[in-house]
Amino acid sequence: MKESNQNLMDKIVSLCKRRGFIYPGSDIYGGLANTFDFGPLGVELANNIKKSWWKNFVQNRSDIYGIDGGILMNPKIWEASGHTQGFIDVLVECKKCHKRFRVDQTDSKKCPDCGGELTEAKKFVPMFKTFVGPVEDSASIVYLRPETAQAIFVNFKNIIDSFHPVLPFGIAQIGKAFRNEITLGNFIFRKLEFEQMEIEYFIQEKEWKKYFEDWKEEIEKWVISLGVNKKNIRWRKHDKEELAHYSKHTEDIEYDFPFGGFKELYGLAYRTDFDLKNHSEKSGKDLKYVDLKTNEKFFPHVIEPSFGMERTMLAILSEAYYEEEIKETKRVVLKFKPALAPIKVAVFPLLANKPDLIKKAKEVYESLRKEFPVAWDDRGNIGKRYYAQDEAGTPFCITVDFDSLEKDDVTVRERDSMKQERIKIKKLKEYLEEKLNE
Ligand code: GAP
Repeated sequence: MKESNQNLMDKIVSLCKRRGFIYPGSDIYGGLANTFDFGPLGVELANNIKKSWWKNFVQNRSDIYGIDGGILMNPKIWEASGHTQGFIDVLVECKKCHKRFRVDQTDSKKCPDCGGELTEAKKFVPMFKTFVGPVEDSASIVYLRPETAQAIFVNFKNIIDSFHPVLPFGIAQIGKAFRNEITLGNFIFRKLEFEQMEIEYFIQEKEWKKYFEDWKEEIEKWVISLGVNKKNIRWRKHDKEELAHYSKHTEDIEYDFPFGGFKELYGLAYRTDFDLKNHSEKSGKDLKYVDLKTNEKFFPHVIEPSFGMERTMLAILSEAYYEEEIKETKRVVLKFKPALAPIKVAVFPLLANKPDLIKKAKEVYESLRKEFPVAWDDRGNIGKRYYAQDEAGTPFCITVDFDSLEKDDVTVRERDSMKQERIKIKKLKEYLEEKLNE
């Protein structure tokens, strides 16, 4: 059974807490809105998403260079990039319940929550500020970056000097970005700090449409490779009023999220030569590219695919969540692609009070642990352990029973089909490697 509504969203949020994927931030102190912590399974899932992205867009391509720039950068960067003037949310506040809303998220003069009257719209720069050094004055203000992209632009010349790339080429980065979001997000959809996976793909101006279309295809291919159903994604073009200050053309790939339907998953923007030109002007450094064949010198234009890690995670969780009736009992299962599953294999001794079984099961556990993330469970009965691993999305469970002691084999149970097979212990690693790579 597959649900598609707020009910499903509530179930995902509760499973994420129960099974150690995602906890509300600062929970014991009453929380902090729009912040979350990843538990042991969440951090593995996040790492697997980032690993897949990096492999697909950086390691498997010879035209993309990876970097890891700083979160804190010279504040002049945000002047040049236009963020201090152009990266603006317009807010209204309810005079009755004092909730704040972004103007683009309300279309009436009355509060969407309590019906109270709304204030006049006010502009607000959603960048977090802090200070470098002991003195908190305007000269020492720095910002927590609201996008990873700027670290790429300011390292453009470094990459050219070190690697001499030829157009078209890209620079990629995964890292934290921070935004002072004032409206309540839906779970991890809108956070104060989140991870972006961004590429600035440098091209000749005349080719922007072709590369824009190529990137639409690349983005879609990767999302689908994670197990997202094509029918749950669609592209939407920004109209003029919606375009970010740096963009001439933007399209969002939207995902049909369980809370409220199609919403932005990622953005794809044609940023022209806006950033390189402005950084060149404001820094006084020549950031032009030289075509060594024609000796032409110019600012390359840029296509920017910008992915949010948390929104990827939310889409994957929504796709993977299933409830099934098995012999009149309900099982909840996360049908992750094996490459994304936080735990690949769980090992159980059939009974927890039999030292022979424990010893043998521990041997299996220790040997597999060298190869994959493996869980151990000897609590409760086997049914409960399967139930817990299904909710964690673990593709395989291995049970060591009394036959294992004589025949050196184990039962392997596959998550989705729930089929069980006897496999020799010495063949286990090979068997699992093959299945996990399918
Ligand atoms: N460099 C371009 C840029 O930052 P954006 O559309 O503002 O563009 C890109 O952000 C992506 O980052 C979004 O499509 C989304 O996946 C993610 N994102 C943005 N704000 C977010 C937030 N507050 N919480 C979680 N993810 C966010």
